[in-house]
Order: sequence, then C-alpha cells, then structure tokens
Amino acid sequence: MTAPERREPAPARTGVLRHDSLPMRLYHESKRLGAWDPRSLDLRRDVEDWARFTVAERDVLLRLTVLFQAAEESMTRDLMPLVLSVAREDRLEEMLFLTSFLAEEAKHTEFFRRVLDEVCRQSGDLQRYQTPSFRRLFAEQLPAAMQRLLTDPTPAAQAEALVTYSLVGEGVLGDAGYHAFSSALTAGDRMPGFRDGLARAQADEGRHLTYGLHVLGRLVAEDREVWGAVSRRMEELLPLTLGIVSEFFEAYDPMPFGLSLDDTIQDAIARFAGRWAALEEARAQGQAGAPNADRTVREVLGWVGEQVQPVTVDMRREGTSPVYTFRVGSAGASSVLLITQEVLGQHASTDIIAALRAHRVPERLRSAGRTRLTCVNARGKIIVQPPE
Ligand SMILES: [Fe+2]
Ligand SMILES: [Fe+2]
Repeated sequence: MTAPERREPAPARTGVLRHDSLPMRLYHESKRLGAWDPRSLDLRRDVEDWARFTVAERDVLLRLTVLFQAAEESMTRDLMPLVLSVAREDRLEEMLFLTSFLAEEAKHTEFFRRVLDEVCRQSGDLQRYQTPSFRRLFAEQLPAAMQRLLTDPTPAAQAEALVTYSLVGEGVLGDAGYHAFSSALTAGDRMPGFRDGLARAQADEGRHLTYGLHVLGRLVAEDREVWGAVSRRMEELLPLTLGIVSEFFEAYDPMPFGLSLDDTIQDAIARFAGRWAALEEARAQGQAGAPNADRTVREVLGWVGEQVQPVTVDMRREGTSPVYTFRVGSAGASSVLLITQEVLGQHASTDIIAALRAHRVPERLRSAGRTRLTCVNARGKIIVQPPE
C-alpha cells in the first residue's frame, strides 16, 4: 500500500475585472436596465384591446407573437454552447455579461409565453404559424451553428455562430419583428402592457447585438480567414432571412394595420448595412496591423496580476481618459502604475511587458506602499518614470 499523496491543491483561479471593457460596461448596464419582470407587466388593458381587434388583426399579432416566442426559446437554448466556448477561453468579463444575456433571453421566452397565455389565450399547438424558412433557420441552422462550438471552437466557427445568432437572429429578424409590432400597435396606443415589455426586450437585444458585433469585430480583425467565413455565412442566410419576412406577409391580403413588406425589409436592411460597415471597418483595421488596444490592456493586466500575487491589481480608466490606472494593493496603501493609451495602442503587449520587466515595475509596485510609476510613449519608445 502506498501512502496517499500529500499535495497542495491548486488555488481556485481569480481574475481581474476590467470595468471599462465593453462586456463589463454592458454587464453593468444590464443590471440596471435589464432588471424587469415579465410577470409585473400590467396586461389588463391589453386583454380589452385584444377583444376589439378584427379577426385578421388578431391573426397577425398572434402569428408574430408565436414566432417571437419560438425564436426566443431557441435563442435561450442555443446560447449555452457560446457561454461554454467563452469560459473555455477564460474571457472572464464576457462570461459575466453572458450570465445576464442568458437571463434576459429566458425572460423574453417567458414574456411572449405570458402574452400568448393571458392576452391571446392560446395555449394549444401554434406551430402552424411557423413557415418553412422560419423552421429552417430556428430549428436547423441556428442550433447547428451554435452546437458546432461544442466540438469546433475555432475563430471561424465562433464567427459563423455569431453571424447566425446576433447579426441575423437578433439583428435583421429582431428588427423586422419589432418594426412590425410598433407599426401595428403604436398608432392607436393599443396594448400598452405588451408594448412596455416589447420596449424592454428590444433594449436588451440592443446590448446583445452590441456584444455580438464586438466579438465578431475582434474575430475578423485578428484572423484574415474569418472574413471569408462571415461573408459566406451571411450570403447563405440572407435569402432565408428575407424568406421568413416575406412568408409572414404572404399569409395576408390585404395586410392588416397597413403593414408593408417593403417598409419592414427596408428598415431592417438599413440597420444591417450600418453593422456590416462596422465589421468591414474592424477587418480593415486588423489588416492594417493596428494593434488591438483592448487585447493589449488585457494581456498587460493579466501579466501584472500574476507578478504581484497575492496582492491584487485593479485597472480603471475614467471615461475616455488617455490614461489607464493599474492600482496594486488595498485602497489605504496602494501603489499605482499609470500607462498611457498611446503606449497600449502603439505597442504589442510583449514589448510593454518586456519594458515593465526591465524596469522591475512589479517588484517596485509590490515592495514599498504608495509607489507611483508612469509608463509613457516617447519617440516610439516605452519609457518608465521615475527611473529606478
Ligand atoms: Fe431575446
Ligand atoms: Fe438576445
């Protein structure tokens, strides 16, 4: 019998949170603005309004609500593989945001279900409203693109998943759907409780889309191959997406509420064009070799954090200040390292870390309390002040 091995268990990993990073800003926003409860919406007037619609009007609203409910349910279910792929890459800030993202999708599912149950009073089989293009996207393409991440977490697979989920699902189709709801309900001030929930869900989707585009922008900037995957995927999905919108309209003649297929598509495509242009811009910047300041900050922060352990480091940037403040230690006796944006934007993290190492920055920050060091860019060189 051998003696049981006595080894020190590895410590649980602790990360540093960059509160000024986009995912953290979205996370904080989501805690403030995303905190709504579908159960608290007052739907009493909605029930009365529902009874006053014509049969055709009710059918349009029911169809749209059924499609939203099914789409939100897919979006809730299919987000999981993305959460896992972000966890696998240890992107802590994104993981925090994804917890609210997922919770919000769950609330959207609950919200549309509640409207179907309590306002439309429809609990039966509503799958007849799902047209062939809708089924192809939400029952086949979306789950396949997301589940692929479980076995293929490559940048191209991540980008294809986000094109499907964010750009097409939350973007083009979400926009078209919200546009139709607001055209139908705003004019007569009808269904105020439902509109209240729609406005909140739409605001949540705005954050989700911002996050999706942020990650897509990073992926296309970092890897040339990814752009091909993104544009191929978009080419494949655009006809299907427009098919979903057209099939929705085909069911009615005349279309109630004066809804127009052309207006709906134009509105969604105009928004899409802006997002696509932003992605092309991110790709062009990546190809021009501009260092990715966001990634550089993360890498420098990670390195400083490792070096000063067990003391903690916290990084802040006030608004659009040109200086990033790395605070090492507790509030009373903390040392501070200031790095200008110029340094972080013009130098690779490996060069910055080499300069900090050469000037023994971690040791100096750790040793005496209240040390104040500055890292600036001068004639293309990284300077640490004061010199040792
Ligand atoms: Fe949603
Ligand atoms: Fe969403």
